[in-house]
Amino acid sequence: MKLKLKNVFLVYFLVSLSGLLYALLQLGQPCDCSPHLRAAADHLRRKDLKISQLQAELGRPPPAPAQPPEPEALPVIYVVTPTYARLVQKAELVRLSQTLSLVPRLHWVLVEDAEGPTPLVSGLLAACGLSFTHLVALTPKGQRLREGEPGWVRPRGVEQRNRALAWLRGKEAAVGGDREPPPPGARGVVYFADDDNTYSRELFEEMRGTRGVSVWPVGLVGGLRFEGPRVQGGQVVGFHTAWEPERPFPLDMAGFAISLPLLLSRPGAQFDPTAPRGHLESSLLSHLIDPKDLEPRAANCTRVLVWHTRTEKPKMKQEEQLQRQGRGSDPSVEV
Ligand SMILES: *[C@@H]1O[C@H](CO)[C@@H](O)[C@H](O)[C@H]1NC(C)=O
Repeated sequence: MKLKLKNVFLVYFLVSLSGLLYALLQLGQPCDCSPHLRAAADHLRRKDLKISQLQAELGRPPPAPAQPPEPEALPVIYVVTPTYARLVQKAELVRLSQTLSLVPRLHWVLVEDAEGPTPLVSGLLAACGLSFTHLVALTPKGQRLREGEPGWVRPRGVEQRNRALAWLRGKEAAVGGDREPPPPGARGVVYFADDDNTYSRELFEEMRGTRGVSVWPVGLVGGLRFEGPRVQGGQVVGFHTAWEPERPFPLDMAGFAISLPLLLSRPGAQFDPTAPRGHLESSLLSHLIDPKDLEPRAANCTRVLVWHTRTEKPKMKQEEQLQRQGRGSDPSVEV
C-alpha cells in the first residue's frame, strides 16, 4: 500500500472539520442532542484510530519482496576450456559460450593453444558477455599431434588445462585479458569443458555443490551409449566402461568436477602430459581423492547431462579449387 503523508493529513483534516460542523449544528438544536453528539464523537474517535493505524503503517519499512537467493552465496563454477585454431573453432566456441551464458555465477577460463592471444578468440570473448579469463599455453613441439595421427594417440589440451590450474593457484596472469574475475578466496568448483561437447544447463547446477570431486555419466563416449560411475546406496562402487576398466579413474574429462579448495590444498596436483592413453584424468584425480569418495550426481549417475559429441571436419575441396583460381572466399571475413 502506498500512502502519502499529505493525503493522510488531508483525510484527517476533512474528517475533523465535518465532525466539528456536525457538532456545531447539533448545538443549535433545542431538543436533546446528546445522542447525536455522542455518535459524532464516536465517529471521530474511530477515524482517529484509523488515522493513527495508517500513520503507523507509513513509518514501517515496506515488506521485502520475495527474492532469489543472493547470487554471491553461490559457489563460482570455473569452466576450463582448452581450444586451438581450426575451421570449426569459432562455431564451437559460440555454441559453448551461449550454453554457458545460461548459467549464473560462472567464470570461463579459456586457454588457447597458441603463441599469443588470437584476434578470433579475443573478439569472441569481448562479445560473449561472460565473465572470463583468457590464457595462452602453446603445446610443446614434441607433444603435438603429427599430421595424420589419430587424436587419441596423444592427450590433447594438457598444457592448456595445467595453465588454467596455475592461474587458479594465483601463479599465472591473464595474458589475453579478463572480465570480472572472481575475487581470490571465492568459493568455487572447477570443471574441464572441451569446446566440442554438448552440455545441458542442468549439469552445472548438479556440480555446484561439489565438496571434493563429483561425478556423473557422459553420453556417446568410449564406444558406448554412455560411460559413467556405477552407484549403489549413494556410493560409487565401480565404473561402467568397456575399455581398461582397471584404470584408477576410468572417467571422461567431462565426467567430473573438483572443488576449488581441494585443488588449492594439493599444489602439486596437475595433468601428466606423459600419462598413457586414457590415463590423463587419473593422473590428476589420483592426487586428489580415493575413488570410493567420489560424489555421485545426476540422480545417482542415472541421468546423462553431457555428451561427447564430435564435430565433423568440414571438407574444403571447393574452397581450395577456387583459391587456386584466385577466387577463394574473402579471407577478411571471419568464419
Ligand atoms: C541416491 O541414492 C541414495 C541411496 O540409495 C538415496 O538415498 C538418494 O535419495 C538417491 N539420490 C537421488 C538424487 O536419487
